[in-house]
Amino acid sequence: MAENDTSARAVVWFEPADARLASPTPVTFDRPIHSSFTEPTGAQMVPPNGPTCRGHEHGAASWNETPVLPPKSKGTDMDPKSEITLHTGTKMPVLGLGTWQLTNDTAGTVAAALELGYRMIDTSGDYGTQPGIGDGINRSGIERADLYLVTKVEETGDACQATRKNLDELQLDYADLMLIHRPPRTGAGENLWRGLIRAKEDGLAKDIGVSNYSVELIETLIDATGEVPAVNQIEWSPFGYSDDMLRYATEKQIVIQAYSPLTRTRRLRNETLIGIASKYGKSPAQALIRWNLQRGTVPLPKANRRQHLEENIDVFYFEIGEEDLEILNRLNEHYSSLGMLSYA
Ligand SMILES: NC(=O)c1ccc[n+]([C@@H]2O[C@H](COP(=O)([O-])OP(=O)(O)OC[C@H]3O[C@@H](n4cnc5c(N)ncnc54)[C@H](OP(=O)(O)O)[C@@H]3O)[C@@H](O)[C@H]2O)c1
Repeated sequence: MAENDTSARAVVWFEPADARLASPTPVTFDRPIHSSFTEPTGAQMVPPNGPTCRGHEHGAASWNETPVLPPKSKGTDMDPKSEITLHTGTKMPVLGLGTWQLTNDTAGTVAAALELGYRMIDTSGDYGTQPGIGDGINRSGIERADLYLVTKVEETGDACQATRKNLDELQLDYADLMLIHRPPRTGAGENLWRGLIRAKEDGLAKDIGVSNYSVELIETLIDATGEVPAVNQIEWSPFGYSDDMLRYATEKQIVIQAYSPLTRTRRLRNETLIGIASKYGKSPAQALIRWNLQRGTVPLPKANRRQHLEENIDVFYFEIGEEDLEILNRLNEHYSSLGMLSYA
């Protein structure tokens, strides 16, 4: 399915219109995010589609699960290596590189991004960029432990097997985060979720999560398995976001990863945005990325051009003031570069 084909998806969760216009619940990083993770019962863990994914040729991963305090959201104390702690206790960089349509010298662009200081790369089995990303990682010489790799499985087939296939394309032993790319047309995808739980148990993914999920569909997965997604990756910018989703995610300690954070360039000429960005001597794209960082959501801007790569990581040593953040918040028009927000 094409990346932007979300129009046929049934969205059954709605938020009240007045809540959409309210100020967002502020998300601060200056408190520990404690784990509310509940292990699924043995009965819930019976794989429906076969035994396990064990036997992956690269072997299982190991990692340090010691929770640490996440960085503060305000001030200049964040840098490109800052991380946010997931509810499982593992850590994720606060900024990543998107790679949908990053097809012009994928390997060279990824290697350049890693050299510039990017530490998280987002991809998917259907982007066609995984082999190039694998080559770029190898070319960069970066240690695997210093890299955070996010990829996704499609809504059909066996999620555990798809995880293995993605890892083979990436030439990696494990993914840091494996997501269900989008809910299936007919429901929440409980069997897909069980497949990712198996992939995690087998060491193929440190953490698992979802993408393009509404609150109701996330709740369905939790009810079926007890496993809370670590992340919901959704379209998110000042022009299109949901206070209700942010509140729910905060309550469940699910991190929102913001895709299309630059609105695929379609709102970069907005006058209000330009005014605020220039007040801080920054570009509109940098203001959009910074808006995410200060609100505790994790932006994944895609950039093929070197100048864009450099600009998008130069977002750490300035701070948008509270009043200006509020002005940006009020730009919300539920805009989606894909046609509709998949979660609202
Ligand atoms: N889970 C999902 O269903 C889903 C859906 C969509 C996207 N995503 C992920 O999110 C990532 C980002 O979203 P996106 O690719 O849709 O859009 P985006 O990041 O909002 O925008 C990318 C566009 O912005 C341009 N750009 C980058 N930096 C810029 C800057 N500083 N100034 C001006 N223009 C700039 C890029 O140009 P150049 O490339 O020419 O530099 C490209 O045309 C994707 O790549 C993908 O990894 C996930």
